[in-house]
Amino acid sequence: MSAHGTPEPLMSRKAGALSGTAEVPGDKSISHRALILGAMAVGETRITGLLEGQDVLDTGRAMQALGAEVVNHGQGSWSVHGVGVGGFSEPDQVIDCGNSGTGVRLIMGAVATHGFATTFTGDASLTSRPMARVTDPLALFGAQAVGRAGGRLPLTLVGASDPVPVRYATPVPSAQVKSAVLLAGLNAPGETVVVEREATRDHSERMLAGFGATISTEVTDEGRVITLTGRPELQPQEIAVPRDPSSAAFPVCAALITEGSDVLIPNIGLNPTRAGLFETLREMGADLTYEDPRDEGGEPVADLRARFSPEMKGIRVPPERAASMIDEYPILSVVAAFAEGVTDMPGVAELRVKESDRIDAMAQGLRAAGVTVEEGDDWWRVHGRGPGGVEGGVTVAARLDHRIAMSFLCLGMASKQPVTVDDASPIATSFPIFEPLMTTLGASFSRPEG
Ligand code: S3P
Repeated sequence: MSAHGTPEPLMSRKAGALSGTAEVPGDKSISHRALILGAMAVGETRITGLLEGQDVLDTGRAMQALGAEVVNHGQGSWSVHGVGVGGFSEPDQVIDCGNSGTGVRLIMGAVATHGFATTFTGDASLTSRPMARVTDPLALFGAQAVGRAGGRLPLTLVGASDPVPVRYATPVPSAQVKSAVLLAGLNAPGETVVVEREATRDHSERMLAGFGATISTEVTDEGRVITLTGRPELQPQEIAVPRDPSSAAFPVCAALITEGSDVLIPNIGLNPTRAGLFETLREMGADLTYEDPRDEGGEPVADLRARFSPEMKGIRVPPERAASMIDEYPILSVVAAFAEGVTDMPGVAELRVKESDRIDAMAQGLRAAGVTVEEGDDWWRVHGRGPGGVEGGVTVAARLDHRIAMSFLCLGMASKQPVTVDDASPIATSFPIFEPLMTTLGASFSRPEG
């Protein structure tokens, strides 16, 4: 089933080297946060480089439903007239977050300390994902969630009208859970504390500080202890969203596995809590360089250059690196299929609760394409077939998961036979220009006959 209508099958076939410059869209995580914090500031926040993917557009609509004014000025330039911390008003419609776990979980946090009810829903993927990981800590503030069995959407969150601050140790390594608690803490008096054992992406902490909140992170034996002072007056910001490393991963990896390729991907956010894939690829022997490393708007960025890398070897990816590359394991498994030897990926239970069960989705498709994949609850292992060694010649299920769809289309660029994904429409959630951009680099896509 497609995200927003009829399934759109897409076939990818080998077409020679990829070359040129790939201008990938803005960072999805930062785009969501810019809209939400903009809506909670007093006055006008201006955002350039916003990702105009469906996930982020759904968050923008939600901010409007809560009382903020969100204006599209064209070409990635947006403004948000915020209502201030505690200033949201009860929405008169259901908040539909589409495919977006980040959208729904962060917005639940933001409304949890407002004394009104909000009903959330999403598509077939989102309504099957766990929400108790967020509603449990929000209950500590005084919010109440009523939803389907297993804490699934649709659910109604009745926010606390007299919230109390919270100290919460996240049981799963999740930036969404951490961020939901911090956003709820904004409208609670006193200090809200989140403790995370493993470092997850820290865009919320950086952006909250940028908006003028008092927030600190201390590294202790318990892990990272993040302390936020509630009820600040957030100051509107000018935010330039860096380009998304998770989207850059696709042209980077496609170039590494496609003979003769040489691709430049400018201005990519390289926040250390996000850059684990690139480190892993370099350890595998990828010809991947960072050019002109610099700092922009509080986030480190560089231009990435990726060239065909026939010498790559499988490695064991350290489990403590998982959080910094959690969205990149599907495309890493494609690279691993073209490396020599075995790539071991332990400590990745979270992959089973993403937009799809990403271990199962990739393992099934890779096996059908002739690659040996082993798996357990929280690990998987790909047996590489070496450069050009993957058969392909399959149709695989995208399972309403943009990253599964893009990963298999990259597989098709370097395998002997074409690879078809049954529905490429979910790609629009995070990387709406994937097909034209990859085509400009030299990729070959076609629509199979219905
Ligand atoms: C995100 C956090 C990650 C990631 C998602 C974006 C975020 O999810 O998979 O694509 O922006 O906070 P978890 O927090 O569930 O690990």
